[in-house]
Amino acid sequence: MKKKIFKIYRYNPEKNKYPYMETFSINFKKTDKMLLDVMIRIKSEIDNSITFRKSCREGICGSDAININGKNGLACITNLKKLKNPIILKPLPGLPVIKDLVVDMKIFFKQYYLIKPYLINKNILPKKERLQSQEERELINGLYECILCACCTSSCPSFWWHPKKFIGPAGLLQAYRFIIDSRDTNFEERLNFLNDKYKLLKCKTIMNCLNVCPKNLNPTKAILKIKKLIFINKIKTFFKK
Ligand code: SF4
Ligand code: SF4
Ligand code: FES
Repeated sequence: MKKKIFKIYRYNPEKNKYPYMETFSINFKKTDKMLLDVMIRIKSEIDNSITFRKSCREGICGSDAININGKNGLACITNLKKLKNPIILKPLPGLPVIKDLVVDMKIFFKQYYLIKPYLINKNILPKKERLQSQEERELINGLYECILCACCTSSCPSFWWHPKKFIGPAGLLQAYRFIIDSRDTNFEERLNFLNDKYKLLKCKTIMNCLNVCPKNLNPTKAILKIKKLIFINKIKTFFKK
């Protein structure tokens, strides 16, 4: 079977002053279906010092998000047949590299936790559960499925420029998920928190985020809906005065 070439970003801060690209050539086997299959073989058969994250190998945990031939994605669900030779693997852009393809996700999760990614309900607890109508429940479809892989946020130029101030598309998608949840009573506070020139408004609708989401979610749309809700809320408050 024809040899395939991999060019992989290497950086071990304990050994290398600068990162470099290392080339590997490997024959694909019939059992190699997804990119992660071959990455695991390169590690076990050629160089066990290559470092990358992985866990579920089913597109669920989000841990093997990397930059594949210039586009962020999950190695475990990237079909080898769709990749052009040479296959160039780099860490997610815009996040500090810990080693090889492993990035430091602290800033990504810090921004995510800022939006309070949990239900807040100040009403008295019902005896059984907080019910939703079918329509109310449907509103969170296309939002709750996010696996926090960071493919979107790390492809967003606004996040590269303002990682400490801009929440980023993943966090904002989740912010909207709780804003429109009928069981959450923190609607106003959530909108007020996001109504800020950096946290939300640094999104310039460049739409890199929606082009890379492995779950086919649309953070750009969620961001535009938050902006619209903030605008409507401002008008309502104005007329209440
Ligand atoms: S649409 Fe907004 S959040 Fe998405 S990549 Fe562009 S600037 Fe970033
Ligand atoms: S919105 Fe998509 S790309 Fe962004 S973190 Fe969630 S699953 Fe990953
Ligand atoms: S290994 Fe879990 S999403 Fe790829």
